[in-house]
Amino acid sequence: MVKIDTEFTGMIGVDYPIIGAPMFLISYEELVVAVAEAGGLGAIPLPNFKTVEDLKYTLGKIREKTDKPIGVNIHVSGKFEWEDQLALCLDYGVKFFITSLGDPKLILDDVHAHGGRVFADVISVEQGLRARERGVDGLIAVASGAGGHCGTTPTTVLVPYLKSKVKLPVVAAGGISTGAQMASAMALGACAVITGTRLIATHESRANQAYKEAVMAAGPDDIVCTDKITGNPCTWLAKSIEDFTTRPELGSKKWKDLWSAGQSVAQVEEIRPVGEVIGEMVQEYLEVCQTLSGSVSTG
Ligand SMILES: Cc1cc2nc3c(=O)[nH]c(=O)nc-3n(C[C@H](O)[C@H](O)[C@H](O)COP(=O)(O)O)c2cc1C
Repeated sequence: MVKIDTEFTGMIGVDYPIIGAPMFLISYEELVVAVAEAGGLGAIPLPNFKTVEDLKYTLGKIREKTDKPIGVNIHVSGKFEWEDQLALCLDYGVKFFITSLGDPKLILDDVHAHGGRVFADVISVEQGLRARERGVDGLIAVASGAGGHCGTTPTTVLVPYLKSKVKLPVVAAGGISTGAQMASAMALGACAVITGTRLIATHESRANQAYKEAVMAAGPDDIVCTDKITGNPCTWLAKSIEDFTTRPELGSKKWKDLWSAGQSVAQVEEIRPVGEVIGEMVQEYLEVCQTLSGSVSTG
C-alpha cells in the first residue's frame, strides 16, 4: 500500500498528509470515520456540540468504528466548556488539536502528556510568531479563498512565508480539493493539507442536499468573503447570505441556511463518498509528482 511520508504523517501516525476539515454543522462522526479509514486525519469542530455529553456520544460513535488518529478544533475560550471537552478528547485518544480562538498554551501540557499535538490557525506571520511564543507544535496557514474564516494571502505566498519566518511545520488550508493542488502545497513546504470545501459535497457530510448541490454548481465568483455574519472575514455562497444582515444566535436553526464554502468549489463536480475523494487525491498527487520529476532532464 502506498503511503506519503511527511513530518505530519510521522507526528500523527496517518498514511496521508490530508486532514478532513473540522466544519461547523458538517463534520460529525460519519465524515471523521470516513476520512480516518481512507488514511487521512478526520476532525470535528467542538462548537458542534451543545453539551459535553453530546460530544461524548459522538466520540463514542467514532471509537466504535475506528481506532485511527482523529483531530478536533477546540475553542479555548470562556464561552465553551473547553476544560471538560479537552479531558474527554484526551480520554478518547484525540491526537490533534487545532486552536482558532483563545490561548493554545492552556492546553499544551495536557495534550503533549497524551502524545498529541497542537496546531494554531494563523493568517499572518505576526500571528504565527505569537503562536510559536506560546509553544504550539505547528501552524495551519489559513489562506485567502479558504472555506470558513479565511485569510487574505494566497496559499502560494502564505505557506512559504510562514515556513521561512516562523520555522514551524505548516499545514496548508484553503483552495485544496485535488491531488494536484495538494502537490502544489507540499511543493511550497507544507507538511499536510486541510481540505474542507471539497468534503461538503460528500455522502458523509451533514450538509443538506441543497447545500451540496449549490457547492457543486458554484464557481469561484459565487463565493463572497465578508465579516457581516460572524464579525470576522468568512467565505459564503453569496446567495445564501442575501437575506442575512447579522449573526444568528448560537444554536439557532438559521445557521443551517448560511452556507459557507471556499473558492475551490471550482473543483467540486460530484457528490461522492469521502473514501473515493481521498483515494483520488492521493492517486492524482502521485501522478503529478511522477510527471514533474519525469520532466526533469540533465540533457
Ligand atoms: C462550511 C465550513 C465550516 C467550517 N467550520 C470550521 C470550524 O468550525 N472550525 C474550524 O477550525 N474550521 C472550520 N472551517 C475551516 C476548515 O477547517 C478549513 O480550514 C477550510 O475549509 C480549508 O479551506 P477549503 O475549504 O478551501 O478546503 C470551516 C470550513 C467550511 C467550508
